[in-house]
Amino acid sequence: MELAVVAGDIEKVIVTEAQIQSRVKELAAIIDRDYEGRDLLMVGVLKGAVMAMADLSRSLQRQVDMDWMAVSSYGSGTKSSGVVRILKDLDRDITGREVLIVEDIVDSGLTLSWLKSNLESRGAKSVEILAILRKPDAAKVDIKVKYIGFEIPSDFVVGYGLDFNEKYRNLPFVGVLAKHMYT
Ligand code: IMP
Ligand code: MG
Repeated sequence: MELAVVAGDIEKVIVTEAQIQSRVKELAAIIDRDYEGRDLLMVGVLKGAVMAMADLSRSLQRQVDMDWMAVSSYGSGTKSSGVVRILKDLDRDITGREVLIVEDIVDSGLTLSWLKSNLESRGAKSVEILAILRKPDAAKVDIKVKYIGFEIPSDFVVGYGLDFNEKYRNLPFVGVLAKHMYT
């Protein structure tokens, strides 16, 4: 979907489609190198990571297994609490596997922090995290995000998998949602 279709809803584009595509290719090359000679299982967090998984995996020059999880974090309003419920679990055992969690964005980091320890507790050999976007609040939680696409301001953003009421996920860029959309 092009910007023109929803132009009035987007305050400004903060990461363009070209920037995302070139960064994803860079990250894929780094992952190819880091995981050379190792097994790799990418775990995408539904639904936000769909675009990132699709683009990233197609840029890798190696075989890769892909699986998906869906989680919901309980919280008041728009802040997540870190109390997480699994809505869809992995299809397979990950004992001894080298896992790379793929996420759209790290905000408070609470969801990812819970997910990482959950996957580690299942006996994975390694669990690393890739997030396309990271907001400044993420710095408050002690969570190591190994691969980051872009550091962005705290504004509420949509596109490239990120939604507002399940809409705007199919924008190929990341934009700040106009304030009049939610105030
Ligand atoms: P947290 O890191 O536990 O606070 O939760 C991160 C989750 O909140 C992400 O996976 C997104 O689903 C959602 N989220 C955080 N910031 C935004 C945003 O700016 N737009 C859309 N969703 C967001
Ligand atoms: Mg998400």
